[in-house]
Amino acid sequence: MKNICFINGSPRSKKANSTLYLNLIDKSLDSKNYTKYYIDTTSSIKGDLESTFKTLLDADYIILAFPLYVYSMPSLLVRFLEDYYIYLKNKDTISQKTNLYAVVNCGFPDAKMNVEALKIVFNCCKKLNINFRFGIGIGAGEFVNFSKNNPLLNKLSSCVYKSINKITYDIENQVSIEINNIFVNPKIPRRLFFIFGHIFWKKWAKRNGIKISALFDKPYSD
Ligand SMILES: Cc1cc2nc3c(=O)[nH]c(=O)nc-3n(C[C@H](O)[C@H](O)[C@H](O)COP(=O)(O)O)c2cc1C
Repeated sequence: MKNICFINGSPRSKKANSTLYLNLIDKSLDSKNYTKYYIDTTSSIKGDLESTFKTLLDADYIILAFPLYVYSMPSLLVRFLEDYYIYLKNKDTISQKTNLYAVVNCGFPDAKMNVEALKIVFNCCKKLNINFRFGIGIGAGEFVNFSKNNPLLNKLSSCVYKSINKITYDIENQVSIEINNIFVNPKIPRRLFFIFGHIFWKKWAKRNGIKISALFDKPYSD
């Protein structure tokens, strides 16, 4: 029985696109063969970090999913990883042979925007003595989640689902050859993506009592 630890690094927690990607991997791995643990960086910070870190230390596989925040990680996740580093240092212990996979999703339909964030994960893994297997950078992450219940639109995301499956394949087949990071965008035409995007932002502005014109404000420009 192998231990798998799913880390959700999105401050949106259960509502996050990152949750969708973690759930897809979780569902594809037979529970008979794996003991699965879920860590939510938003709630774990308030909870018993010691036992959370112990779970992490005992993991054979870590699947880390998070959104791209300004070409990097959400600060809660940075804090979580820094705290884990301190925990390891204080315990004077190193993690066993843990393999880590990262799934980063960003808002723009440009998966390559996630390049730097995956480099950050790679460097964190070096510090934490974790074996970074590979990462998947997903563009238009909001679209994949938004369209998941629409069979027609969901087809545009099939390349994203295929890429996610590569993590399952790698775990189940214990692949040892080096694999490069994968970057994938749903096949939505850019123009259509931005039309959807504008509708979405206007809806959110209204929901939050903000005038559409206020979306163009530049409060820090002077
Ligand atoms: C503070 C903040 C910073 C962001 N920075 C970027 C960015 O640099 N590039 C980008 O494409 N999307 C950016 N986004 C959009 C998110 O990456 C995107 O909405 C993602 O799908 C959210 O995933 P989640 O639901 O898993 O949190 C940002 C969002 C927030 C809230």
